[in-house]
Amino acid sequence: MATITKHIGLSLGADLCWPAAFEALVEALDLTVPVGEDQVRFAVERVTVEPYDLQYTPKYSLILDRLTHWFMTSREWIKKLVLMDDVYVLNDPWSIQSMEKHTSYAAMMRLGLPIPKTWMIPPKEYERGGDWDATVARYNKLFDLGEVGRQVGYPAFLKPYDGGGWVGVTRVTNEQELRAAYDKSGKRVHHLQAAVPDWDLFVRAIGIGPQVNVVRYDPDQPLHDRYRVDFNFVDGPEWQRAARTCRTINAFFNWDFNSCELLRQAETRIFHPIDFANACPDSQVTSLHYHFPWLVKALIRWSLFNVATGRKKPLDTQWQRFYDAHDPSLDPDDQLAAYDAIAQEYYDTPAFEAFCDEHLGDLDRVAVEYFSSAEFKEVVRMKVSALFPQHEVDKFTEHFFGMVQFWCHTERDRLGL
Ligand SMILES: Nc1ncnc2c1ncn2[C@@H]1O[C@H](COP(=O)(O)OP(=O)(O)OP(=O)(O)O)[C@@H](O)[C@H]1O
Ligand SMILES: [Mg+2]
Repeated sequence: MATITKHIGLSLGADLCWPAAFEALVEALDLTVPVGEDQVRFAVERVTVEPYDLQYTPKYSLILDRLTHWFMTSREWIKKLVLMDDVYVLNDPWSIQSMEKHTSYAAMMRLGLPIPKTWMIPPKEYERGGDWDATVARYNKLFDLGEVGRQVGYPAFLKPYDGGGWVGVTRVTNEQELRAAYDKSGKRVHHLQAAVPDWDLFVRAIGIGPQVNVVRYDPDQPLHDRYRVDFNFVDGPEWQRAARTCRTINAFFNWDFNSCELLRQAETRIFHPIDFANACPDSQVTSLHYHFPWLVKALIRWSLFNVATGRKKPLDTQWQRFYDAHDPSLDPDDQLAAYDAIAQEYYDTPAFEAFCDEHLGDLDRVAVEYFSSAEFKEVVRMKVSALFPQHEVDKFTEHFFGMVQFWCHTERDRLGL
């Protein structure tokens, strides 16, 4: 019987808080998992960017990546690790690279999810020179933007087809505003998407492997207050609908970690997905606060499960299976259940749950202890110091740490601690 240490690499940019919590909790768990003849232990480290021989063998079993959507050296390093070394990566770098908002709208429309009416619009401006001039002059058909606006209807959102971070998103309520927004939209390719009318609830469903947390969200609040601390804002079937929608999208695109924005229309109570191609979901204590421990624990569960069991990341897409499961005659809930069954199989949910029951029974208790500690408060301070002006650091450290203490309080009640 051998003791094997498996390495988890964190591929990071500006992230500070969740990696610190992830490292501290895995260390506190001090876990040994018997796998076959061996005893598996876990070590977490932050990966560095450096030259490498394509033939080298990395030590990592799993990489939790936050860079692949914009940092090319890490993206390509990760692809080599997946292709040559069977490393499990959250998320799939190919999927993140190629599945922009537009792709995700198109695929989910085909699955029959209630995506608002969306048109793609060629950009206002182009590069000049080379083949650009000839291509645009020959083949870009002049079009009537007003007609596109009439087809989509108002109000509508003009937003980059591959956007994120609310950059370049404009709400327009008539043709004049649409033309003004388009005239300022430069070289980026945009969608015009119909606004979900009269929505009464905005949720972000955060998915990590098969685990989903549905959090109420208010885009009109300042950044630190958008994720709400609210309970019972949906009933049981609605929670299930939101969770299933998120899992379906994530499994379809081979994503292990994503956040899906859903707007509930007041009258029909239908959840309309509006934005669900989030390569690098919000993971900071300064935005998630009360919900931050859920995220860290879910990342730990999913990472340790894959590392310990040596589960291979399914890289082939399940598109045809999902398309084949599309049946317009089904009631929407039955349709979602059919998609979710594919997603749960994709994520090996029963094996994952059995692993958590057998090996991670201590995680809840260890997490409450850590998130109540002075050590964690320093982590919050570090993150706050990186984002807020000096004179607000004390106030916001108390605020975010306090929100997590509220979570600890509810957890202690739940666990009977
Ligand atoms: N179809 C829609 N109906 C209603 N509101 C919308 C719609 N599309 C976008 N919005 C509003 O605009 C905001 C930004 O749009 P979207 O999420 O698509 O862009 P983003 O750049 O990905 O932003 P973020 O990074 O904040 O998620 C949404 O949070 C929502 O408030
Ligand atoms: Mg969004």
